[in-house]
Amino acid sequence: MEAKVARPGEGVRLTDLWDDPYPVYERLRREEPVAWVPAANRYLVTRHADIVTLERQPEIFSADEEKSLMKRVMGHSLLRKDGPSHRRERIACEPALRPATVKTHWMPEFRRIVDELIDGFIGEGEADLFDRFAAPCAALSLAGMLGLTNVDQKDLREWSQAMMDGTGNYADDPDIWRRSEAAAAGVDAALDEMIPYLQRNPDRSLVSCMLHAEDPLNREEIAANVKVIIGGGLNEPRDAIATAAFALLADPAQRAAVEADPALWRAVFEETVRWVSPIGMYPRQTTCEVELGGTLLPAGARIGVVLASGNRDESVFDRADAFDIHRAKKPHVAFGGGPHFCLGAWAARVQVGEVALPALFGRLKNLRLADEPPVRFGGWVFRGPLNLPCRWDA
Ligand code: HEM
Repeated sequence: MEAKVARPGEGVRLTDLWDDPYPVYERLRREEPVAWVPAANRYLVTRHADIVTLERQPEIFSADEEKSLMKRVMGHSLLRKDGPSHRRERIACEPALRPATVKTHWMPEFRRIVDELIDGFIGEGEADLFDRFAAPCAALSLAGMLGLTNVDQKDLREWSQAMMDGTGNYADDPDIWRRSEAAAAGVDAALDEMIPYLQRNPDRSLVSCMLHAEDPLNREEIAANVKVIIGGGLNEPRDAIATAAFALLADPAQRAAVEADPALWRAVFEETVRWVSPIGMYPRQTTCEVELGGTLLPAGARIGVVLASGNRDESVFDRADAFDIHRAKKPHVAFGGGPHFCLGAWAARVQVGEVALPALFGRLKNLRLADEPPVRFGGWVFRGPLNLPCRWDA
């Protein structure tokens, strides 16, 4: 009898993905681009072209995943809705994050936040810039955009982490549930304080826009959307800042090019989120039987859309594993695609690429990586540096 040959997806281990997912993705793209991966309990879609195809068919690849832990932790937000109910909530949020609002209203706020943070440590000559800069910068900027100015940035960071841990708590760890429930209760209490105020004093924030939309959202809808944005709008700019800083500090030639031509900061941002996509994977579920990338998917199949792999697809990007701000412009998928394309993309571009990074490199003289400890990266659903120890001339 012939021995059964394991398919490439069957051998994938989550610990390998967490440490360094790129060699695994390279193999999957080559050998089994839509692969059943038992360890992830999903089919992983790893080629750029299949990701684009899938996002063009939201009626077949639904965002409303059954038994979603995200819904358990945060409630049913716009991120897990399809069709008109998604559209209605997205329209309510949109005015807060339009390019013009970001430029005229949020950009000066981002500048103030960044300058105050740098003022706080510039005299010290060394710091872990992940903890002292990237994370608080992302948290303070997000608190402003949400309208939760009554929340301390450390609480926001803790809530974000606790809720995200809850959305990945497939092991049913009671301690993780306790922490994520406490975080969700913290967000609810902050909203109970801010909603009456914003009801009377409308501003440009997301909560205010949801309250005052032509078709206003109710308390439950607002709470779920705020929780999903706290869970998802904080890690990504934080990780993009830290990844870009690391990439430039490790490559003097590209750093010198940007310092000589500040117009290149835009390319730094786009290349950073392509190279190490802050959201590496997100879920979808099929509504009917469908073929994708040569694999027949049954109705109800759980899908992992692997943006991190699409963004390293060698059929689209030359030398895809290299960080190269001069590469030819090609459409990356770091902000997703289709109806759920990131609503915060403009805010992220400005916050990270136009404000945080130029200020960091402009103000910290002779900024360099500290010799010890080394910078470590981790994660596959979300991925980025875990630390960024640096020195500069104080
Ligand atoms: C580098 C930074 C960021 C990256 C790489 C990123 C990436 C993404 C991705 C991939 C999605 C689609 C997820 C899915 O379809 O399941 C998404 C959705 C979303 N993002 Fe972002 N994001 C970033 C920053 C932000 C920020 C700063 C905000 C808010 C201020 C934000 C708000 C949102 C919202 C509201 C959605 C849901 C849109 C919808 O369902 O219609 N994002 N983001």
